[in-house]
Amino acid sequence: MAYAPYSAFSVGASLLTQSGRVFAGCNVENATFGATLCAERSAVAAMVSAGHQAPVACAVVSGAPQPVAPCGICRQVLAEFAPDLVLLLASVDARGGVTAKKIVNLATLFPQAFRLHQAGGGRPLTSGRGPR
Ligand code: THU
Repeated sequence: MAYAPYSAFSVGASLLTQSGRVFAGCNVENATFGATLCAERSAVAAMVSAGHQAPVACAVVSGAPQPVAPCGICRQVLAEFAPDLVLLLASVDARGGVTAKKIVNLATLFPQAFRLHQAGGGRPLTSGRGPR
């Protein structure tokens, strides 16, 4: 369930991981507007909190007439874990029926994600999966 009292625009996102797990998120708005969290980043936080870091697909669902694509910040956050993530974008009606859908690769929408190590910054990675 989204928290969207300011925009009245609810968005849901679900990440499917390589291991077959699904992590859901929703937009969480804030009175300052700028502190609003999009559904995609909320799903990423749920995935990482549960110890998973390898998403293979992300569904983004809203009630917009046409499917919405992740915003710029969310594209960068998703690309951290899977630059070639499959995005399943869908619009649903009040009953949850799909009225429009689109499948697109994150790499098409966001071909040049910022990568700290590519840019020559950061320190050598020592443990964990590290950035994709
Ligand atoms: N929003 C998302 O959660 N994901 C998107 O892909 C687009 C926009 C949210 C943020 C805000 O709560 C509302 O939609 C209007 O921008």
